Amino acid sequence: TSAAGVAGHIAAIDQGTTSSRCIVFDASGRPVAMAQREHRQIFPAPGWVEHDAAEIWRGVQHVVGEALGLAGLAPEHLAAVGITNQRETVVAWDRRTGQPLHNAIVWQDTRTDAACRALAADSPLGADRFRAKTGLPLATYFSGSKMAWLLANVDGLRAGAEAGDVIFGTMDSWLVWNLTGGPDGGVHVTDVTNASRTQLVDLATLAWDSELLEAFGVPERALPRIVSNSEIYGTARGVLAGVRVAGSLGDQQAALFGQACYVPGQAKSTYGTGTFLLMNTGETPVPSRHGLLTTVGYQVGDTPAVYALEGSVAVTGALIQWLRDSLGLIRDVSEVEALAASVPDNGGAYIVPAFSGLFAPHWRPDARGVITGLTAYVTKAHLVRAALEATAWQTREVVDAMRADAGLELTALKVDGGMTANALLLQLLADRLPAPVVRPAVSETTALGAAYAAGLAVGFWPGLEALAAQWAADAEFEPALDDGTREREHGMWLKAVERTLGWAE
Ligand code: G3P
Repeated sequence: TSAAGVAGHIAAIDQGTTSSRCIVFDASGRPVAMAQREHRQIFPAPGWVEHDAAEIWRGVQHVVGEALGLAGLAPEHLAAVGITNQRETVVAWDRRTGQPLHNAIVWQDTRTDAACRALAADSPLGADRFRAKTGLPLATYFSGSKMAWLLANVDGLRAGAEAGDVIFGTMDSWLVWNLTGGPDGGVHVTDVTNASRTQLVDLATLAWDSELLEAFGVPERALPRIVSNSEIYGTARGVLAGVRVAGSLGDQQAALFGQACYVPGQAKSTYGTGTFLLMNTGETPVPSRHGLLTTVGYQVGDTPAVYALEGSVAVTGALIQWLRDSLGLIRDVSEVEALAASVPDNGGAYIVPAFSGLFAPHWRPDARGVITGLTAYVTKAHLVRAALEATAWQTREVVDAMRADAGLELTALKVDGGMTANALLLQLLADRLPAPVVRPAVSETTALGAAYAAGLAVGFWPGLEALAAQWAADAEFEPALDDGTREREHGMWLKAVERTLGWAE
């Protein structure tokens, strides 16, 4: 078409837990414009977290328009748009009106704890009841129990879902539906990575599984069609009119893709609200015996799916926010690095931020946070340093589990996400793994991964080799801490973790 000649950019929509962003990339994978808008965090009860899906869709349209404006581009200048999203968060909406029927239930929400425990109690395998099939333990984190809650608690929802009038989706589905939506509604699809987090999919077949659907009581009719991460799902209307919607991945898988981890053994760790470390394990799912998740890494078109092992840590950046917003220890996140660097060590203090229990590798909803080792010597600088160390030690726990599960030694860890602007954090991390830590030149790897997936589908980029060749390092951090100090401190950390367990029971 005549537009092909000028369609020299790809847009990515990153719908995250706290905000939605749109980033426009050029052919070399460099970001040329970015817009961001936060949305409300709704806390109706302790442990409950909701989002307004309609507010999120309005925000997404706004940031898309703003980013295009900043880049000086019109939709016809885009070869495609890719989507990436906070995973597991669930929306139910009316197929005819497109209206959400309840607030979205967010991945952090723990309201389904009792339901998950009941499902575990029904099996000799306990919380591992569906692990062999889904790669996931029974936990409030995943989408299936959230759909079950909506079906049981929202008037008319079950009847509507069974009649085909009410449909479900994670945030990717919600956005593709709305982007492609016209008078007859949009395309109702979900990609394999998001689908793999519902706990309703068999990892071997990558299809909805009847045993799982029955256990959670979710009618298949209400679920989207499962598609690959890189193919043309439809054509956008509205703010992106005419642009092909051609890529979709959960945000952590998108970061794996954007970090060009295309070879088994390659891993990335993303530092945001929480931390999610994913390692490419190739075309066969690797079961975990050490508390990791087995999940889909990515699938490009009709090529075989690539799987990953994932270590999900619920609270890392959120601890720094808590020090700022709830304790007032700092005024701005930008103070953290200098404050932590003003002392040579943690002064004996350890913080384990088990605010929503502990995720990987423990999966203990009964854990609650602790600060240990306090003496009058400890200052706020020590506490801020201990908060950064907590991020490093939690990563170490996940890396140890990965070493044990995959039998692979980590040659280097690629990192990304907001916290990685903090060089001290990355040094503390390299010291504690211990392994070299590498920060890429393009830090927006989540959005980049979505752009890559969309670009591959429309032939904007030729293949994975070309994308891997675009990856470049910005800085590398080598381990420098002596073994004795590291192992002594590791022992202290493990002792502190011990103290969090069972607190809520
Ligand atoms: O599994 C949850 C994860 O996808 C959330 O990521 O970056 O939106 O906090 P983020």
